[in-house]
Amino acid sequence: MAKIIAVMNEKGGTGKSATATTLAYLLAKRGKKTALIDFDGQGHSSIIYGVKSINKLEITINTLLQKVIADETLPELESYVIKHKSGVEVIPSNSQLFTLERNLCNVDFRERILSQYVDTIREQYQYVIIDCMPQMGTPMINVMMCADSIVVPTQAELLSIQGLAELMKHYQIIQKNSNHKLKVEGILITMDSPHTIVSTQVMELIEHGFAGAAPIFKTHIPRSIKVAEAVLYHKTICEFMPKNPAAVAYEKFTDELLDGEEMEVCAVG
Ligand SMILES: Nc1ncnc2c1ncn2[C@@H]1O[C@H](COP(=O)(O)OP(=O)(O)OP(=O)(O)O)[C@@H](O)[C@H]1O
Ligand SMILES: [Mg+2]
Repeated sequence: MAKIIAVMNEKGGTGKSATATTLAYLLAKRGKKTALIDFDGQGHSSIIYGVKSINKLEITINTLLQKVIADETLPELESYVIKHKSGVEVIPSNSQLFTLERNLCNVDFRERILSQYVDTIREQYQYVIIDCMPQMGTPMINVMMCADSIVVPTQAELLSIQGLAELMKHYQIIQKNSNHKLKVEGILITMDSPHTIVSTQVMELIEHGFAGAAPIFKTHIPRSIKVAEAVLYHKTICEFMPKNPAAVAYEKFTDELLDGEEMEVCAVG
């Protein structure tokens, strides 16, 4: 049964899509059967994984969720999943997903629609990574209800910390009341410019403010223009330029995440 890892932060532009797409790529490269759900109407994960015209997609995560809502039979996974040569299988998205919040309004058990869909693919994968949209609402509550853990990419900037505080509030409510298994995998500092005053001071604030509530990954992802350039070629940084410092950092972040899982298994065993 797949582990479901959601990459989320209510603030926009914190590195969610870069992190979700790269993490999925690295897990697949390490031989893990991995799916990536693009859960953002902007379709950034779909674009990075090679979809040229997202609005021409016939089946997206939105159409699949509409079928769940209507209690209709879902199409075969093979008919809509986008298979990338790395091994990652992408469930794509486009702007239709922006209608989901409204369409969930009068639906019974509306917080569990995504869980119902994910349950249908869970046995096919070891990891399902979810690239989330940058705003809280019923769709994001759906993600928190079905995920096992969340990774929170955060820029080392003061304004990003506000988004982090809001997200942690929602996390605590859902974890306490509805999804007890949900944990924070960690806060991941992205687009870092190490040794600058802002980076050092913001790190102190994060460590001071969130140390008890959420782990912080030791690895920080440095800022590199090559991460944005990679998107032009529909690639993650690790495929585009594996020796780039940001790519190397993403490898270390993936090591940390997998090591954390092993420690958990040992503790349980
Ligand atoms: N380490 C990095 N160095 C430089 N640029 C980066 C880095 N990570 C991401 N970017 C760029 O910053 C922008 C925002 O990143 P990304 O799209 O991953 O954020 P996001 O949180 O998914 O945004 P949104 O909230 O809009 O979905 C993109 O142009 C991306 O290419
Ligand atoms: Mg994004």
